This record gives sequence, structure tokens and C-alpha cells, in this order.
Amino acid sequence: MNVTFIGTGFVGVVSAAVYASFGNQVIGLDVDENKISSLKNSKVPFFEPGLEELLTQQQQAGNLTFTTDYKTAIRNADVIIIAVGTPSAPDGQADLKYVFASAESLAPHLKTGAIVAIKSTVPPGTLNKVEKIIKNKTKTKFFTASVPEFLKEGSAVQDTLKPDRVVIGAIDQEVFEKLEKLHQPLNAPIVKVRPESAQMAKYSANAYLATRITFINQIADLCEKNGADVNDIVKAIGFDKRIGQHYWYPGLGYGGSCFPKDVKELAAYSRAVNENDNLFNKISELNENRIPKLLRKFEKEVGGWENKQIAILGLAFKPNTDDMREAPSTKIIPILLSKGAKIISYDPMASWKGFFRLDNLEENHQQAGTIKEAVKNADVIMSLIEWPEITQFDFSKTKHPDKIQWFIDARNQFHPQTLQQQKYQYLGIGKTN
Ligand code: UDX
Repeated sequence: MNVTFIGTGFVGVVSAAVYASFGNQVIGLDVDENKISSLKNSKVPFFEPGLEELLTQQQQAGNLTFTTDYKTAIRNADVIIIAVGTPSAPDGQADLKYVFASAESLAPHLKTGAIVAIKSTVPPGTLNKVEKIIKNKTKTKFFTASVPEFLKEGSAVQDTLKPDRVVIGAIDQEVFEKLEKLHQPLNAPIVKVRPESAQMAKYSANAYLATRITFINQIADLCEKNGADVNDIVKAIGFDKRIGQHYWYPGLGYGGSCFPKDVKELAAYSRAVNENDNLFNKISELNENRIPKLLRKFEKEVGGWENKQIAILGLAFKPNTDDMREAPSTKIIPILLSKGAKIISYDPMASWKGFFRLDNLEENHQQAGTIKEAVKNADVIMSLIEWPEITQFDFSKTKHPDKIQWFIDARNQFHPQTLQQQKYQYLGIGKTN
């Protein structure tokens, strides 16, 4: 099949490479010339395990090309998948301007019977608007569909190759058949629904997972008041099949490019359709307050931040990515600096300077090249992200012989007793030590 992805951001590039690997002829289209010229040279502007290799392989096999030209990308496409960004507007709603602009630009070049599918996260009703925009520009017969994306950063290639399910939202039987065929190699359950359900499914999945994380963080706070251990709670209630053990480790709250935005968008959508937005607002609010609240607690325990040397381990929003959007580090470091702390940060992949496009780091902030260098003279070590390099590091080798060193285990990844035996002052989440 000839498949074109509009938008070569994270989702577009990963999906384009994976769909090409099934033998489809795939074109990635973007209006950003710089992005396209680096992708033509198999250079991906972000870190994602396995992606550059797959991209190179598919380009060399002749299955995958990139262009900035709409006509080249659209005229032979059987399926066009819109995967452009949908940033949040100031009122919290999804800003759909890139989706609409791509619909306008693709319309004049459509071939008869092509399917235009939206993969970007968009509120219900968007597909009708896109259909109208295209119809205003062409008399060619075309179809529309919604194919939301559920991949996670850091495991995006694997998630796309082996999804838990594929959701196809459409009206026409012909569209279901074609899109089912396209997704057959994934060997995943296919959920065929109307477009509105597909769009709601994406928001619901993300908002539910964000709620789950917020819930366990609230439980963690209660555990600290009464001697319970939140890890024991997860284990104990997780045996209930309705609840499960996975995907609700407590910590600093959820970050990244999806959850914070999608929960707020669902609140905005609720308001737009005159429904109650309380639940989604509360989830956002609790998540946004989480880091300041925890920092106030830790500040008391360590006796203030002023003049403390603090090693921040993990700048990205999660392991196996260099993405720092809504990462805990971006909230914690400015607060600590404003309180007079000195920071040495470390991340295996993410660069503070790169993310903030800085020539120099802030005063009192250095980024170290190794964990050892970061923690060497630290008064406080804060392990923010569960990168294996960090969680498997032997901190006994770096313990300062004379200094009191605090170890803040912000994701409960370490054994408190081990660190205590190594003479660290251990602080975790949701447990008293
Ligand atoms: C998420 C969804 O999982 C994915 O299906 C959707 O397509 C995009 O949004 P992603 O943002 O890449 O994916 O990462 P994810 O692994 O889901 O983590 C999101 C945030 O929640 C991270 O900040 C993570 O640290 C946090 N998290 C996750 C927790 O605090 N506890 C958990 O148990 C799981």
C-alpha cells in the first residue's frame, strides 16, 4: 500500500518507519525543510531506542522516503495519516491549526478513493471538520478515518510493532477493510468503532492512566502519615485482578508530552460540551502541586536547600528518552536554584542546554558527564528518573567518607536498608523510614 504520514514528529517518524517495515511504500511529509533534510540522511532529531536503525534500513530498502512537497506525497497515496502536533491552546483546548492546515494542503492532490486518517490526538468532532475542509477544495471522492496512537516514548518502536490493540474509527466498510489490511502484520486485536469513539478512547486511556498515577501518589502521602508503605499497598491490592500490579508506581507525578496536555484537554472538552470538568481539573491540579509539595517536605528533612550541593540524576521525563517536556527536573532545578542550592545534574541522554537552547547553563548549575562526577561531593542526591544506569549504579563506591549525604529516591527504586547501610540518609516516597 502507498502510505503517507503528514508530520514527521515523534509519532510520524516512528509510525512511518514501522509501516515501511511491513513492505508498504511510505512517504514522510513535513513542511519543516531542516527536519526533512536530516531525515533524508537518516538522522532523527531525538533519541528513541532502535529508531535510527529501522529508519536507515527502510530507506536503504527503498520503502521509505521523505519530502516537503504535498503533491509528491499525496498524489499516489492510498492512505494519508495526519500525525501533526496538536499543542494545547491557552484555554486548555487542543489547538488544531496544524491538522486543519494539512487538510487544506493535501486536498488538491488526493487520488480517488484515498483514505485520510487522523492519528494526532484530537477531540471528537474533528474528523467532520477535516472532511469539510477537504470537500471545499476538491471534488475527488475520498474517505476519512481516525486511527489514534497509543505508543510510549522510550519503547515506541516496540509499542508500534506489538501494540496491545489497534483502534480504527470509521463509518464505511471499505475503509475498515483497507485499514484492517494495513494493520494485519501487527497481529494485534483490532477494535473497529465510529470515529468519535476512537477519539474518546485515546483521551480516556491517557486520562485514566494519569488518574491512576495521581491516585497512588495521594495514597503515598497518606502512608507517610501512618507508617504504611505504599509499595506494600500496590502489591496487596494489585493481586485483585480488577486492579493489577502494573503502571502505578508512585513518584513525582506524571510528565511528558501527552498526559498533562490530554487531561487538560479533556477538561476543556467537558466544558465545551457543558459537562462537569471537576475530575480532570482536580487530577491536573494535584499533579501540578505534587513537586512543590514534595520539595517542601524534603526541604524540611534535609534542613534547607541553601548552599547545599545537590546531584540531580535524570533530566528526561522518563527513562530511554532525551525528551524533557514536563520533566520533573525542569520544575525541581529552578526551585532549588532559587533557594540558593548548587546543582550538578546528570542524564544518560538528555541535555539541559540543548532542551532550553542555552549557550551556558544557569549560574550554580553544571551538567556532569558521569553519575560519579555528579554525586562526588553532593550533600543531597536526588534520583528522579529510573534510568537503568542510575538504578543499577553502585552508590557504595561514591559515598563520601565524612559527609552526611541524603539520598532522595523519588521513584522508590532503591532498597532503603542497603543505602542506609552505606551510610546514606534515605528518603523515599510513601513510606516512613
Ligand atoms: C503516554 C501513554 O502511556 C501512551 O499510551 C500515549 O500514547 C502517550 O502518553 P508516554 O508519555 O510516552 O506515554 O509515557 P508513560 O510511560 O506512559 O509515562 C507518562 C508519565 O507518567 C511519566 O512522567 C512517568 O514517569 C509517569 N508514570 C508512569 C508514573 O509516575 N507512574 C507510573 O506508574 C507510570
